Amino acid sequence: MPTIIDGKKISQELKDDLKVKVAQYKEQGIEICLAVIQVGEDKASSVYVRNKKRACEYIGVKSLSYELPETTTEKELLDLVKELNERDDVNGILVQLPLPKHIDEDKVIETIDPKKDVDGFHPMSVGALSIGKKGFISCTPYGIIELLERTGVEMDGKECVIVGRSNIVGKPMAMLMLRQNATVTVTHSHTKNLKEVCKRADILIVAIGKKEFITADYVKEGAVVIDVGIHRDDNNKLYGDVKYDEVAAHASAITPVPGGVGPMTIAMLMKNCVNAVEIQDLKGNK
Ligand code: GUN
Repeated sequence: MPTIIDGKKISQELKDDLKVKVAQYKEQGIEICLAVIQVGEDKASSVYVRNKKRACEYIGVKSLSYELPETTTEKELLDLVKELNERDDVNGILVQLPLPKHIDEDKVIETIDPKKDVDGFHPMSVGALSIGKKGFISCTPYGIIELLERTGVEMDGKECVIVGRSNIVGKPMAMLMLRQNATVTVTHSHTKNLKEVCKRADILIVAIGKKEFITADYVKEGAVVIDVGIHRDDNNKLYGDVKYDEVAAHASAITPVPGGVGPMTIAMLMKNCVNAVEIQDLKGNK
């Protein structure tokens, strides 16, 4: 039987650790504050935003909530971001995506001060990660590293294959795995012999957005399998990018869906909010 990597439990432990750290900062006079902006009323976004605010409350981070109408103009949103950039009492700015079509997401992300970019999406944050400088790290790949570390999975010198090359998961995941001294291969829709490439992996990380795409014949005996996918069927049952039962029979450790990678994303957002104190060099300033 493989080790089932329990993201729910690990994210809870992490939030409890962060709660202690936030309390220590409070004693030093440092209060952390996250501004959360949502434009429009996308249902899934509303759930994510609610969960993010709840997590803030749990660990003791103050949250400012901006729920803007769908008709908000790009200029109005950019002006709000610029105002929050200037505010000393705001440490993190999160603009929930997707934005309405009339707003250029890249422009909004690039307007956020990189020192407050708790999502880690700003090109400066991405660049800092790729050359090993201090900066915010995209929450999902950062959460996968935390899962692997807290499960005791050795990464140094291991073959890691990542399926998917998105800006938010695949590419930053590759950078983080390199930082752990893994040998990294990033695969995508044009990769030849995908099965054979995946079979090389000691650690296989799957983020392609295709329900149950990875079957047992993609997986080496004893591999660690991380599933980033999330798909809901008509009965609200959740599935990953990995065909769990048959892959689990060959893996040494595997993340389930739900309860694997998913809960880590918000926990790592909280970690980024706490990291803001270091990134903004607030210690000793207040
Ligand atoms: N929409 C879906 N996931 C995310 C995320 O991690 N951050 C933001 N800002 N929007 C999202």
